[in-house]
Amino acid sequence: MLKIAHRGAKGYEPENTFVSFQKALDMQVDGIELDVHLSADGEIIVIHDETIDRTTNGKGFVNALSLHELKAFRINGTHEIPTLAAVFDLVNQNCFINIELKSYEVTEKVVSLLEKYVTKKGWKYDRFLVSSFDWNALQQVAFLNDKIPIGVLTETDLDLALAFAKFIQAKSIHPHFHLLTQENTAKMQQKDLQVFPWTINELEDIKKIKTFNVNGIITDFPNRI
Ligand code: G3P
Ligand code: CA
Repeated sequence: MLKIAHRGAKGYEPENTFVSFQKALDMQVDGIELDVHLSADGEIIVIHDETIDRTTNGKGFVNALSLHELKAFRINGTHEIPTLAAVFDLVNQNCFINIELKSYEVTEKVVSLLEKYVTKKGWKYDRFLVSSFDWNALQQVAFLNDKIPIGVLTETDLDLALAFAKFIQAKSIHPHFHLLTQENTAKMQQKDLQVFPWTINELEDIKKIKTFNVNGIITDFPNRI
């Protein structure tokens, strides 16, 4: 069962920061989940919200600020907002990276960056897993490059997610863990889909979901898996 660190090891360090990703690597996770938006000047920025208000000392929409402007703000007083390329370099293929597309606009840039790391730096496509609640974005990923592994996110309708995942030949389904049962987990796996539920933090919940034999667990506390 794969250990996947949510926004890095968010239970221990500020989400989506280098220290959070390093902490996850230190915990020997199998994968790191992170979120991306596009900056005003077309850089791929690792941040969860569409604004920087909650997590930094600044204010404004990510897509209205340049990379230079974004770099001036701090997370918890010290940490810079990372770019996706810088996180790739930190991770250096030591685990896979689950990139959650938070906007449609970032899709093509992410595909290009992945292709660059595969063709110019020798990375394997299996070091990446691109997921999104925006299924149009996922369809665009599949259209642009059918070698990129795709994960279909859902918090509402598992059957619809299953049908869509087969349609775009996704690798995995990422359901909110409350949607899961042993039966529907098996149903997805019988259709050759891996099941990576999120975000499971409480020990009781982790124990229960483990009995469903999911393929991996996305959590703020990777050491609890
Ligand atoms: O990718 C799973 C999970 O991260 C989706 O929800 O809000 O934490 O990005 P959120
Ligand atoms: Ca996410």
